Amino acid sequence: MPVITNIDDLKRIYRRKTPKMFYDYAESGSWTEQTFRENTSDFDQIRLRQRVAVDMTGRSTASQMIGQDVTMPVALAPVGMTGMQCADGEIKAARAAERFGVPFTLSTMSINSIEDVAGATSKPFWFQLYTMKDTDYVSRLIQRAKDAKCSALVITLDLQILGQRHKDLKNGLSAPPKLTIPTMINLATKWSWGIGMLSAKRRHFGNIVGHVKGISDTSSLGAWTAEQFDPSLDWGKIAKIKEEWGGKVILKGILDAEDAKMALSVGADAIIVSNHGGRQLDGAISSIRALPSILDAVGDKVEVHLDSGIRSGQDVLKALAMGAKGTYIGRAFVYGLGAMGQEGVKTALEVIHKELDISMALCGKRRIEELTRDVLLVPEGFEGRWQA
Ligand SMILES: Cc1cc2nc3c(=O)[nH]c(=O)nc-3n(C[C@H](O)[C@H](O)[C@H](O)COP(=O)(O)O)c2cc1C
Repeated sequence: MPVITNIDDLKRIYRRKTPKMFYDYAESGSWTEQTFRENTSDFDQIRLRQRVAVDMTGRSTASQMIGQDVTMPVALAPVGMTGMQCADGEIKAARAAERFGVPFTLSTMSINSIEDVAGATSKPFWFQLYTMKDTDYVSRLIQRAKDAKCSALVITLDLQILGQRHKDLKNGLSAPPKLTIPTMINLATKWSWGIGMLSAKRRHFGNIVGHVKGISDTSSLGAWTAEQFDPSLDWGKIAKIKEEWGGKVILKGILDAEDAKMALSVGADAIIVSNHGGRQLDGAISSIRALPSILDAVGDKVEVHLDSGIRSGQDVLKALAMGAKGTYIGRAFVYGLGAMGQEGVKTALEVIHKELDISMALCGKRRIEELTRDVLLVPEGFEGRWQA
């Protein structure tokens, strides 16, 4: 059993065990990958302010996200095709999150369906919605999420059109993988993944196949989804979806203060400052750089969360101290899942929790609420002086 001490350890094992097509799918950004890279390198620019001789007993990372108690304010982000990273991946990740006491967000583009995850867990999870042209399908999805007692709807706003990731095109990404010669050669070296997949509950998009007319097999699915994202989505439509849902709504993909104000005006319960992990607009600024201006605009009126680039508890601490009330990890949990299944997601959460707890202590803080900007050393001009 390898000794896992950080998220990079999980990533190394994940890479070894996972078919190239799915590793590349997770470990890529769009076009030049500038935004993907800066999501992590911008976190590195911020330093922590070490304090000493502060009583550090009785510490806790417990907090709340949208009124829900969490062991630490780190949710699992919606990640499409998680069930291709590891057999029954969504079920395993959801179970690990439930046991750890953090929210799990199921993607519309998941392999396990809403019902599969609901049947395998005992506490409500969150459902992420992509708005599609087929409004009947969207209404049915919303109803299915209600029936499954999902406790929040996360509406993703930054994917009305798909950003291009070169490797996905070159690898012919699909679920399940098409058996071309290069794919078969690669799969031959990933036997533990393959054995797991033989008994997987599903190997195609579980929220779509069987729920959309004319899509009974997966061959037409790629084209269907690419065509289906709704390019006409606007704030009026978002308000209508919020009304249809009737529960808590989190708007994901906000990177601009003006959009944050619009999200507030449609009554979002929380927003996620996010650039989709650098997978959509290449050249957009990193989430951590965008956070201060968004907090200035709406931070006292709506709960502001952040994702994109979090690989450690120190990153979580930086986002929280900057003013975010919650954070999400995408790739960091996928690495764990691909490396060691449910146990790997648990390990990823444990690693981040330990790093967060110890870093808090060494900054002289005992509670999440005590994390404020004075914990950070932020380089001058960090937010950038951009000319619009
Ligand atoms: C492989 C992969 C698939 C993703 N699929 C979705 C998705 O289906 N829906 C969504 O809203 N975001 C999706 N995202 C974006 C994540 O929710 C999240 O914003 C991003 O992963 C955060 O960045 P990080 O990976 O650096 O933590 C995906 C991200 C990755 C890496």
